[in-house]
Amino acid sequence: MSAPDTPSMTHEEIGRWWRTGLIRIAPGEIEPGGYPVQELIGRVSFVDTVWLMLRGELPDPRRSRLLEAALVSAVDHGPQAPSIAAARMAASCGVGLNNAVATGVNLLGDVHGGAGQQCVALLEEMAGRVAEGAPVARVAEEVVAEYRGRGAYVPGFGHRFHPRDPRRDPLLGLVREAVEEGLVPAGPLEAALALEEALAKGRGRPVPMNIDAATAVVYASLGFPSELARGLFVLSRSVGILAHAWEEHQGGARIKGPLPRAVLAGYDGPATRHLADDDPRLSAGPGRD
Ligand SMILES: CC(C)(COP(=O)(O)OP(=O)(O)OC[C@H]1O[C@@H](n2cnc3c(N)ncnc32)[C@H](O)[C@@H]1OP(=O)(O)O)[C@@H](O)C(=O)NCCC(=O)NCCS
Repeated sequence: MSAPDTPSMTHEEIGRWWRTGLIRIAPGEIEPGGYPVQELIGRVSFVDTVWLMLRGELPDPRRSRLLEAALVSAVDHGPQAPSIAAARMAASCGVGLNNAVATGVNLLGDVHGGAGQQCVALLEEMAGRVAEGAPVARVAEEVVAEYRGRGAYVPGFGHRFHPRDPRRDPLLGLVREAVEEGLVPAGPLEAALALEEALAKGRGRPVPMNIDAATAVVYASLGFPSELARGLFVLSRSVGILAHAWEEHQGGARIKGPLPRAVLAGYDGPATRHLADDDPRLSAGPGRD
């Protein structure tokens, strides 16, 4: 019996339900981006395939190299990164690798792992103001003053324990090369450097770019919208999350919590107290119905 609102739909009309511009599938045929997959296998890299799926065309090798550099740089940040720790904890609880990876990925939000998306959005906003004729240095100073004014952190700058993020220089170096070759626009790099300069002004210690701003410069230069910067970060970090979950799984430790057993979590609730048998708040107990 057909549903009331689809009494006379043709096969073609029904096919539009999951219509996609990403891939053509038919019996014996798989065509991502319109290319027969057998022509891609062994000839096109994984990064090229990511680009094809997200942008609809294969990238030229130099753009692909830039995207690859950003994806490599964010793969892992050690077991103390909450997304990695959570995936390891999940793996030690005996869930499958898919659950462990999803647990890690689900921690990547606005605060942990999300600064890249926010930074691309900020670079886009600055580009708009620069396009209206404002000098980039002034725009950066205004942005920093505005963030400081509301006690906020500029996304993509500063780091808890790297005085200078070791991923910053190689990524920016590659973008600089690409700008000089005329491959990508200079705007995102210039805007991020101007922000760094504005943040350092009047301070003894600079607030350098971290991985999120450095990769944001790459993604913005390559024309990825901010939401995809988050998606690409997730893709990259998933590799580290998977590897850590797998290592923990192989280690065989069971039910590993966030602290070694000998370390107790601090407690600042009420001092130990005892419940009297005649406490009127007891709903059941000795001598009660
Ligand atoms: C990562 C982060 C939480 C570290 O913060 P933190 O531990 O307070 O950093 P520090 O103690 O080294 O800060 C030193 C000073 O730089 C300032 N600062 C650090 N990061 C800043 C930022 N992004 N924007 C503006 N000021 C910043 C702090 O306010 C502090 O100022 P003060 O000396 O006047 O008090 C913080 O830099 C941040 O939230 N950055 C933006 C979000 C982000 O990029 N996250 C991804 C990190 S990989």
